[in-house]
Amino acid sequence: MIAIGSDHGGINLKEILKNYLTGQGFEVKDFGTYDQNSCDYPDIAKAVSDGIINGECDKGILVCGTGIGMSIAANKVRGIRAAHVTDTYSARMAKEHNNANIICLGERITGCDLAVEIVKAYIDAEFGGNRHQTRVDKIMALEN
Ligand code: RB5
Repeated sequence: MIAIGSDHGGINLKEILKNYLTGQGFEVKDFGTYDQNSCDYPDIAKAVSDGIINGECDKGILVCGTGIGMSIAANKVRGIRAAHVTDTYSARMAKEHNNANIICLGERITGCDLAVEIVKAYIDAEFGGNRHQTRVDKIMALEN
């Protein structure tokens, strides 16, 4: 199950990514926003993050205008490793090296087709473990 969410600045790209993922056979839970009215991205970042932490979803995608606010907010939630990505290599590495459980994109930054490729690169990637696990463990220890 993939969690997805956006604020008003990312809703158009969220819908595109949701359609792409469901078309690929993934189950997607949409945590909003559901219309173009202005809303606060930290609320959506928290909802998606909670969906991952409580085990309902395996990974998440957050979209705002730039992807920055969503990543800052999501990374405040204990257990979340949110990567702000604008290219496919970083999206793959975010999983392989950092075991990111959320990627964040900016609708005003990244074109739709590239955003789909970014999501595909992230979804297809697998965590490398070993030395990367040691480093991720050290990241998570920073929460204590
Ligand atoms: C909303 O205007 C915008 O600030 C938001 O979508 C995001 O880009 C924040 O980081």
